[in-house]
Amino acid sequence: MQLRENIYAVGAKDPDLRIFHGFATHLGTTYNAYLVLDEKVTLIDFVKAPFAEELLANIRAVLGERPVDCLICNHVEPDHSGALPAVTAAYPEAKVYGTLAAEKELRALYPDTVYPFVPVKAGDTLHTGAYTFHFVPMPMVHWPDSMATYLPEEKILFSNDALGQHIGTGELFDSELPLETLLKEAGAYYANIVLPFGAPVKKVLTAAAGLDIDMVCPSHGLILRDYIPQMLACYSRWCENGTDENRVVIVYDTVWGATEKLARKLAAEWAEKGFAVEALKLPETPISDVMTRLLEAKYIFVGSPTLNNNMLPTVAAFLTAMRGLKPKGRVGLAFGAYGWSGEAAGQIQDILTACGFETLEPIKVQWNI
Ligand code: FEO
Repeated sequence: MQLRENIYAVGAKDPDLRIFHGFATHLGTTYNAYLVLDEKVTLIDFVKAPFAEELLANIRAVLGERPVDCLICNHVEPDHSGALPAVTAAYPEAKVYGTLAAEKELRALYPDTVYPFVPVKAGDTLHTGAYTFHFVPMPMVHWPDSMATYLPEEKILFSNDALGQHIGTGELFDSELPLETLLKEAGAYYANIVLPFGAPVKKVLTAAAGLDIDMVCPSHGLILRDYIPQMLACYSRWCENGTDENRVVIVYDTVWGATEKLARKLAAEWAEKGFAVEALKLPETPISDVMTRLLEAKYIFVGSPTLNNNMLPTVAAFLTAMRGLKPKGRVGLAFGAYGWSGEAAGQIQDILTACGFETLEPIKVQWNI
């Protein structure tokens, strides 16, 4: 797919993917890679291993027998580097460009793959003729190796995971879907992938603010042309853990219905007070959907009955995921029904406290409400 005179999208679509390492990808996803033609030919990013032949076919459809000279590895996670062995086998003379961390990780992940590697750091460039690629390391957005690549002659930022979305429904550019859909999926991606890394994201946004950008080519989902300011505004809010003081998310599971009744009672009471309340039941609501909903919620209420002296495993799984994703600046409330021992609400309270949340008084009810 040609994006500009010398620039092509050559990645792969994965529209039927429904789980991406635990993330419910309702719209599938894409693994984007970009080919830039100049005196030297550059491939930016790879694809997941099962899509390697598709990537190579897309490259050959543009280049024919002309080789690729430079391979920019913006990120080592296997959804982007999985095709590296196939691509380096097809183009054995090509040099791989990436951060020092990327080299270390690539050598560990693909120990039998041989290729020349050129480590790059902030401020380094790659001249390919008329074009000069600028490397912008962005450690922990999403891994230590992560970086973006900027092409000033085309005003394009190849942003890798940053500003991506799991949208694999066939569109190429942002304006092909409603802005609301784009931002909802970008929010889901941020909440489930990027949320722990607010401080590094802020640094990247500061660096990006100094660049003249009129196209953002991420490694997942749609290319941004029309909605760059709106997307950057969302990232600016999300990286600061900006929340809506009026929003409450109640997440719970239940055994015989008492904790569910308690969840509904809480929802009704807080709605009566004027809050926008959503009650989400586990496990039918995937954990990643809960994370998406609580991205901007000030209040997070978590409920479980007590079973065998513990909270339910579904609720424990959610709390494990949420704690790892590190939302900040929230107010938590633990609640749950019980028969005789009643440990669950206290266990939830402990985790909400460990998350750094301000907490409200836990609510426990015996047998029924
Ligand atoms: Fe899309 Fe961190 O990989």
